Amino acid sequence: MSPRAALLFLALATGSSAAICTADAFWKAPPKVFGSEVLDIHAEEVRGWNEYATASPTFPALPVEQKPIDFCNVTIFYTHPGLNDTIRVSIWLPLQEQEWNGRFLGQGGGGWAAGGHGALAAGVALGYAAADTDAGHTYFGDMADIGLTSRSWSLTSPGNVNLHALQNFAYRALDDMAWIAKHITKTYYSKDIAYSYWNGCSTGGRQGLTLAQRYHEQFQGIISAAPAANWVTFLVTEYYAHIKMRELNYYPPICELQAITKAAIKACDELDGVKDGVISAPRLCGFDAKSIVGQKYECKEGDTRQITKEAAEVANAVWTGPLKKDGTPIWHGLAHEAPLAGQANFQGLAKTKCDSQEKNCKSDPFVISADWIKQFLLKDPDYDLSNIDEELFHNLLRISRQEYHSIMDTSDPDLTPFKEAGGKLILWHGLGDELIFPNGSLNYYERVKEATTDVEDYFRYFEVPGVLHCFGGDGAFPLTALNSLVDWVEKGKAPDHLDGQTLPMFSSKPDAEPAYRPLCAYPKVAAYKGGDVNKAESFECADGFGKVAGKRDEL
Ligand SMILES: *[C@@H]1O[C@H](CO)[C@@H](O)[C@H](O)[C@H]1NC(C)=O
Ligand SMILES: *[C@@H]1O[C@H](CO)[C@@H](O)[C@H](O)[C@H]1NC(C)=O
Ligand SMILES: *[C@@H]1O[C@H](CO)[C@@H](O)[C@H](O)[C@H]1NC(C)=O
Repeated sequence: MSPRAALLFLALATGSSAAICTADAFWKAPPKVFGSEVLDIHAEEVRGWNEYATASPTFPALPVEQKPIDFCNVTIFYTHPGLNDTIRVSIWLPLQEQEWNGRFLGQGGGGWAAGGHGALAAGVALGYAAADTDAGHTYFGDMADIGLTSRSWSLTSPGNVNLHALQNFAYRALDDMAWIAKHITKTYYSKDIAYSYWNGCSTGGRQGLTLAQRYHEQFQGIISAAPAANWVTFLVTEYYAHIKMRELNYYPPICELQAITKAAIKACDELDGVKDGVISAPRLCGFDAKSIVGQKYECKEGDTRQITKEAAEVANAVWTGPLKKDGTPIWHGLAHEAPLAGQANFQGLAKTKCDSQEKNCKSDPFVISADWIKQFLLKDPDYDLSNIDEELFHNLLRISRQEYHSIMDTSDPDLTPFKEAGGKLILWHGLGDELIFPNGSLNYYERVKEATTDVEDYFRYFEVPGVLHCFGGDGAFPLTALNSLVDWVEKGKAPDHLDGQTLPMFSSKPDAEPAYRPLCAYPKVAAYKGGDVNKAESFECADGFGKVAGKRDEL
């Protein structure tokens, strides 16, 4: 008996389906997607896989116990003939059909990475057939190099942008991935997929919105967390603090920025009636950094300094967001609780690089923002960004909008086709996000609400106080958002809140017990009723923090 025949025999003998994890089996009916050509198929069984922690900003967005998993690892390489691209799709299929929950899960990426294998493992552990794409540029290896810069693929030569590669990353590869990976899933189990879901944060969140906007039939349920939508505007405005620093000729040390963030949180923490180190009522927080100029803080042990007027201006600029020359806002600012200098996972928007004494600091702009400006707007990898003055900043913003809006912005508010296809969309955004402006998400939600009727029937927005970019921070995290989405799609149970729980290991209190709190659908907020502040029952979704806070919040 040949090994293949032996496998088939074994499958029949044990009564399981004829799922065969070999490239030959998939070559019998390869995926056919208009405009593309499959180049290569790999498939092999992987048993006892336990490496969940592969860098992925979406991790740990799923409530999964890390256990070893068995799956069929299918890899498809394909091209769009004539475009000189090679795109990889990875599909991880629970090895035994009885371990498959009948659902398909598309997993998003972060930064310039279009996917992430850590998230695929989590999907498989929950019973999903999970897939991602690399959109044509590999993200294997060092995240710092690949997720954070586009250098290896964005220019065909200095001055010339590879627009096809950008389109693949922006949207096209996502549709391809859905067609290809669903086809492979159906082939493997010889069964239809019951429901398809998308889960992603940051770039993954933007990808989710792109799918709702452009490919409305691919996913019935979409989680878009802290989406990098409004890309052409927000990615340029992320650079704004560095324009301010240049203008003031002052580059605040990280300890000074941290002292300002700490003072802002202290001033506004209790506006919701709960002292928990989280600003849950940002709209009531009018903290002005100028109010603490001259205040002492300890930069390092024995090195006491005073908050400078310049650092206060930089902080206020991040909170206000960039202004046009006439003083009107261009885009949103970050909330006061967002770490100005960043935190362990990501650098903040006012980050500087200093010497070991926290002196002689220089600008250290957020790498993806700097990369976008160099590679796509100036198209010159060697450009020295310290030349950018206010005038050039405004021009760069114009170039970004003019050249890339239709490709990358992901801000089309007309979700009518998605709604009519029965799709459901959960968008959540951490209010402590240090990179992507939460009000950009709110702005998108408001615009969809204007553009389509009954938005609540298919799209809900959740503000998540105290959560940083995608994860981290002291706030309650919507760990079970995917479960809420599944209930909405499959049982018609629309979520009026997401269940939040703190994730101590990513917070400033790693030894604390987890605390629970509802995360209410906008515009409702979690108002404290009394009782244990660590229990969800002590809160209710209400129109405002009301009497609890000793004043009415007009929202
Ligand atoms: C899955 O297969 C691809 C292609 O053969 C390989 O590069 C990758 O390392 C495999 N992944 C795992 C987890 O084995
Ligand atoms: C095709 O892409 C490769 C690298 O991805 C590059 O080296 C080559 O020059 C490209 N060919 C054309 C015709 O653009
Ligand atoms: C976000 O929007 C709300 C309501 O529109 C506003 O009150 C708040 O000040 C904005 N926050 C920031 C940081 O721009």
